[in-house]
Amino acid sequence: MADDLPYISGKEIKLNKMKSILSRTDLKGNIEYCNKYFVEISGYSEQELLGSPHNIIRHPDMPQIIFKMMWDRLKKNEDILAVVKNRAKNGDHYWVTTLFETKYNPLDKRPEGYLALRRAAPSNAISEVEPLYKKLLEIEKKDGINASEAYLLEFLQRKNKDYDTYIHDVVEYKGLVASFFNAMRKMFS
Ligand SMILES: Cc1cc2nc3c(=O)[nH]c(=O)nc-3n(C[C@H](O)[C@H](O)[C@H](O)COP(=O)(O)O)c2cc1C
Repeated sequence: MADDLPYISGKEIKLNKMKSILSRTDLKGNIEYCNKYFVEISGYSEQELLGSPHNIIRHPDMPQIIFKMMWDRLKKNEDILAVVKNRAKNGDHYWVTTLFETKYNPLDKRPEGYLALRRAAPSNAISEVEPLYKKLLEIEKKDGINASEAYLLEFLQRKNKDYDTYIHDVVEYKGLVASFFNAMRKMFS
């Protein structure tokens, strides 16, 4: 979608809080696997998704800096948690808490791809990040990604938190939420 074109903002898809939305990619981010609920929510067929770059579900409201941070971390084989707004095929959207991590080959232990474990983002997390993402996107469009990165760092500094602490607090990654992600990880990797 061209940056200067307005887009018709779709409806929010209400996700089932008990269900996981899973995908696995190769090292370049092309989708190699997605679970049934991923397919259902995305509005694409499994055939359309498999082999496609993961930005097929990118929502134009997402600032690039979040994905840059995510890729930087994955390239270092470090996990990262993020709140992500995704776009369904018909333009509707859904918010997910997403844990990105590296998948290792069980034999030679080398990285062979990446996993994304997702569940519905809590509404307070959406209210927290939505204005931040809007601001980051505005800055990115005007002054580029370095400027949005600088804004994000300043924002975190003002909160006196690093990114991981901030995002874990925002999604309340503890107790049942952490158990849900651990269960997804066990099932999936
Ligand atoms: C395992 C994995 C899962 C991903 N999941 C998503 C996702 O749910 N939504 C999304 O917009 N990008 C996702 N990405 C990031 C995309 O590959 C891409 O970097 C992002 O959509 C930005 O695309 P762009 O650089 O073309 O703007 C994922 C990447 C990986 C490795």
